[in-house]
Amino acid sequence: HEPPPLIFVIFGASGDLTHRKLLPALYELHRKGDIHPKTRIIGVARKDKSSQGFRKEAVDGIRSFSRHLPEDPKDDPEDLKAFLERIHYFPLSFERSDDFDRLAEYLLDPEILKVVNGNILFYLATPPAFFIPIVEQIGRIRPRLDSSGRNGFTRLVIEKPFGHDLPSAKALNKSVLSVFREEEVHRIDHYLGKETVQNILILRLANPVFGALWSRDVISCVEIRVFETIGIEGRGAYFEKAGILRDMVQNHLFQLLTLTAMEPPVSFDADSIRDEKVKVLRALVPWKGGAPSESILFGQYAEGGVLDEPVMAYRQEKGVEAGSVVETYAAMKVEIQNMRWAGVPFHLVAGKRMSRKATEIVLHYRKPPVALFRLAGCHDDTENVLTLSIQPNEGISLRFGIKRPGSPLRIDQADLTFAYNQIYPDDPPEAYSRLIYDVMIGDATLFARNDEVEKAWAFMEAFLSLNRDPKLYPAGADGPQEVVDFFSIDLS
Ligand code: BG6
Repeated sequence: HEPPPLIFVIFGASGDLTHRKLLPALYELHRKGDIHPKTRIIGVARKDKSSQGFRKEAVDGIRSFSRHLPEDPKDDPEDLKAFLERIHYFPLSFERSDDFDRLAEYLLDPEILKVVNGNILFYLATPPAFFIPIVEQIGRIRPRLDSSGRNGFTRLVIEKPFGHDLPSAKALNKSVLSVFREEEVHRIDHYLGKETVQNILILRLANPVFGALWSRDVISCVEIRVFETIGIEGRGAYFEKAGILRDMVQNHLFQLLTLTAMEPPVSFDADSIRDEKVKVLRALVPWKGGAPSESILFGQYAEGGVLDEPVMAYRQEKGVEAGSVVETYAAMKVEIQNMRWAGVPFHLVAGKRMSRKATEIVLHYRKPPVALFRLAGCHDDTENVLTLSIQPNEGISLRFGIKRPGSPLRIDQADLTFAYNQIYPDDPPEAYSRLIYDVMIGDATLFARNDEVEKAWAFMEAFLSLNRDPKLYPAGADGPQEVVDFFSIDLS
């Protein structure tokens, strides 16, 4: 697929997301020739500045956040100049209708339209409070954009959070779908852009040896964990409203969960895959269908140390209430009550300020039905474990028992390990580059559909309203101590 030419309109052009992620990703695509030469990028934000000024900020952002620009501007590659020529700036206040009228005029400039075949892509990179106001304004100018004889596409890209609970998610979907058709909408969850997340399906569906061993018949427990060493990165005010349930679990962990647990789709197109993911969410219940309060453990980091650096407590962070009970850690036990998974506990854990960064999916296999080996002096604790390491050390490993040479009979554990970087030494493409590329070619497979988002919130509702009372853990520990008891459930 060749991406077609288009006008790429970024709302929130002064924001963090634009400078940290979007412009570096667009530059990466430009370098690789994966963006049409005629595509134009229009940064839209409130501040008055020139395109020249915006380009300078863009270069600063790319230099800080992309691995593709040298530190010294003297060594800048040739292609940077051509990239910057694509970028323009358009000042606009999100509340002002006359500003959007001006934007419509700008987009309908016949010269520009001809060059980009009439294709327009709107990217909402603003704080979420502006999503609905901007969509409404686009709704107001859309008839004008559509009746202009333009016959290109119109697409909307929207970044998480998609609402902060079920009613707000529904309101957002309703607003978006009153202006755009579902197939024009791309809801970004950047976890889906990660190569190793996409590999979950390849591992399962292209390899019968794994695909056949993917159910309650052989699996005793599935762990999905996202550990981060970072804290809230100066986003105190945001995190106080979100907590880790909204920030990580409802979106990123649920994406990992649905890809791990879904049935094989009938084909590899966007809707077939998303249909199966939605079915997982429909079958999702708290462990053994019990009370939500018994299926979750909340934690919050206290003062401590991470990677040998002293770290302040969450409650001391800027923008956080001194007595805040917002969770920076959550451990959940859930079950997928369908034919494939009933009775298998899925343990989901997300935490900030853990000892290490690790995003992993771990499948524990059942023990053999009969203890055949009488092992002298040790009990048989061998277990087959399949670990999908999503980041930072991307790879897959399978643990199994082997006979230790000699006698008496002993079984040791061995690991069969595959590391991505042994085979693919180059860094994998950035998640955002992949996702933006897919938006440009109109492939919605790696994006969340409206019903998927709503189902995930619907499941979360009962947990969001729980009294938090988080257990404290020192920064740098892997969550509160209570987690050991919490997860030691009867797996027989
Ligand atoms: C974001 C969250 O969506 O994902 C952050 O808002 C979190 O709090 C980040 O740190 C994690 O992303 P990654 O790609 O570093 O695992």
